[in-house]
Amino acid sequence: MPFPRIIGTGFHVPENVVTNDDLAKTVDTTDQWVRERTGIRERRWVAPESGVGPSDLAEKAARMALGNAGVGAEEIELIVFCTMTPDRLLPSSACLLQAKIGAVNAAAFDVVAACSGFVYGLATVESFMKTGRYNTVLLVGAEVFSNRLNHEDRTTTVLFGDGAGACVLRNGAEPGGILSTHLFADGSQHQVLWVPSGGSVAPPTVERCGKKEMFVQMQGPDLFKIGVKRFCEAVDAALAHNGLSPEALDCFVPHQANARIIEMVQRKLGLPDAKVVVNIDRYGNTTAASIPIALHEAVTAGRIQAGSIVLLASFGGGLTWASALIRW
Ligand code: ACO
Repeated sequence: MPFPRIIGTGFHVPENVVTNDDLAKTVDTTDQWVRERTGIRERRWVAPESGVGPSDLAEKAARMALGNAGVGAEEIELIVFCTMTPDRLLPSSACLLQAKIGAVNAAAFDVVAACSGFVYGLATVESFMKTGRYNTVLLVGAEVFSNRLNHEDRTTTVLFGDGAGACVLRNGAEPGGILSTHLFADGSQHQVLWVPSGGSVAPPTVERCGKKEMFVQMQGPDLFKIGVKRFCEAVDAALAHNGLSPEALDCFVPHQANARIIEMVQRKLGLPDAKVVVNIDRYGNTTAASIPIALHEAVTAGRIQAGSIVLLASFGGGLTWASALIRW
């Protein structure tokens, strides 16, 4: 069986920095409230009405990942694009990205699993690669969430950011790489985090737009409690499957939903700060992009090196939760 390995990473965030103080000018919030409850200091948003979509952010992240991997776009056989804020309902953002980077030999499709999107995407490419069907793959997580937020709702607008992260994976003969992936879902709790209208069940109408039903709605405190529990379950699944204890981890890259959630999971695992990647202070929650952005920053900073045992874990809307264990 071949061994799929991440051989190059990249990322891109919009230039436009939006601080908590900026948001406090339009909604009833404060920098202190947002920092203390979430750990977020600022996020990046595309300029309003700029026409920039996730495939544009992903193009830059993908070009960086391809460059770091030393792989040409025409060598890519499959693009998996993880997003819950696609450029359009049709076509997929994956197809738009394929055209933008000139990956003319690649099949392309989107994966929708909210904040667990990247790990769900990783499991998808792992399966395609371990069967030998595809050997060189581009996996992207990218979001323009700023256009899907009700900017009058202080409970959601402060949390989310825009950005993209990308990985190039290639099959090799040497054992290691993606060791295991673990996916979970509970659709019965889908209303804890959802967009009520805009799909085929409740198509866009002037009335629904007026009621802001096209934007994300969230029951934050419920999600917080569920998030900690599911995060821990996903982590436990990866460690148990590989017969490892938390001390064996060299680097933990959690989904960046809330710094307090990450702290609780970190405490449970007993990991020192040096092993846990946190960048939510600078980017907020970039949903499917959060793990690949954090992964890229950890690799670039030398926190992940050849042979490192790396754990990815996430939870999000759906509800979904997921983990992956990697030997770098
Ligand atoms: N600024 C100031 N006050 C606020 C804000 C704000 N931005 N937002 C809410 N409040 C107020 C509330 O109205 C409430 O006021 P009240 O007591 O007068 O009613 C008070 O603060 C407390 O509100 P809670 O919602 O209980 O605050 P909490 O401590 O739970 O923090 C938060 C809210 C940060 C959203 C937290 O619940 C959380 O992080 N939940 C998880 C969110 C999450 O992970 N979401 C992403 C999921 S991933 C995905 O798939 C996209």
